[in-house]
Amino acid sequence: MREARPIIALDFASFDQVKTFLSLFPSTEKLYVKIGMELYYALGPEIVHYLKSRGHSVFLDLKLHDIPNTVQSTMQVLAKMGIDMTTVQAAGGLEMLKAARQGLGEGPILIAVTQLTSTSESQMQEDQNIQTSLLESVLHYAQKTAEAKLDGVVCSAHEVEAIKSVTPQNFVCLTPGIRPQGAEIGDQKRVMTPYEAKVIGSDYIVVGRPITQAQDPMTSYYAIKADWNA
Ligand code: C5P
Repeated sequence: MREARPIIALDFASFDQVKTFLSLFPSTEKLYVKIGMELYYALGPEIVHYLKSRGHSVFLDLKLHDIPNTVQSTMQVLAKMGIDMTTVQAAGGLEMLKAARQGLGEGPILIAVTQLTSTSESQMQEDQNIQTSLLESVLHYAQKTAEAKLDGVVCSAHEVEAIKSVTPQNFVCLTPGIRPQGAEIGDQKRVMTPYEAKVIGSDYIVVGRPITQAQDPMTSYYAIKADWNA
C-alpha cells in the first residue's frame, strides 16, 4: 500500500502562505499534503475544504487522545470533512483506538502515534513510568494499534523493520525525518533519504522544509518524488 507521492508538511502560519506555496505547482498536479495542529487550530475546516476542492489529498495530523466516546464522535466529524488520513495517540488505549476506527469508518487511513520521536528512553521511563526500552514500548503500541484495526503507525524510519516484523502484512508505516542527500538536517536527529526509506519498507514519507523552504519547491518536490520511487 505504498503511496507514490511524498506527503508535503504544510507547516505555514497563514492561509496566504499556503496559497502562495500551492500556486508554484500546476493546477493539474494533485498533491498529498499534511495539515498539522497549528494550521488547523488557526484556520479550521476551511483549509481542508480549500485543499479538497482543488483535488489534493489531505492528511489531517491532529493526534487525538481523549475518552473513547469523544474521540469517536470527533472522528465522525472529520470523516464528513472528506479527509484522507488522520492520527490518534496510541497511549489512549485499545478501547479508544477502536472507537476512533468506528467513528472514522473504513475509508480514510487511520494511524497512531506510538512514542513521539522527541521522547527519549529515559524521559519515557521517568515521565510515563514505563520500565521497558523505548523500542519495546513502540512495538507494544504498534501491536495494540493493529489489534484495533487501524491502518498503521507514525514512526521513525529506523523503527520500520522492527514494527513490520510484529504486525500484520498490510500494516503501514508513515515516516517523517526524511532528507534528500546533502540537504539541511535542521532540528531532525536521525534522518533517512527518500530512497533509503523506501528500501527499509516505509509506506508514506512526510517531507516539510526540504520542499517548503527550497529555492524552487516544485523542482525539489519532483526530485524527492523521483528518489522515493527510484
Ligand atoms: O520540515 P520537516 O521535513 O522536518 O517536517 C517534518 C514534519 O513531520 C513536521 O510537520 C513535523 O512536525 C512532523 N513530524 C516529525 N517527526 C515526528 C512526527 C511528526 O518530524 N516524529
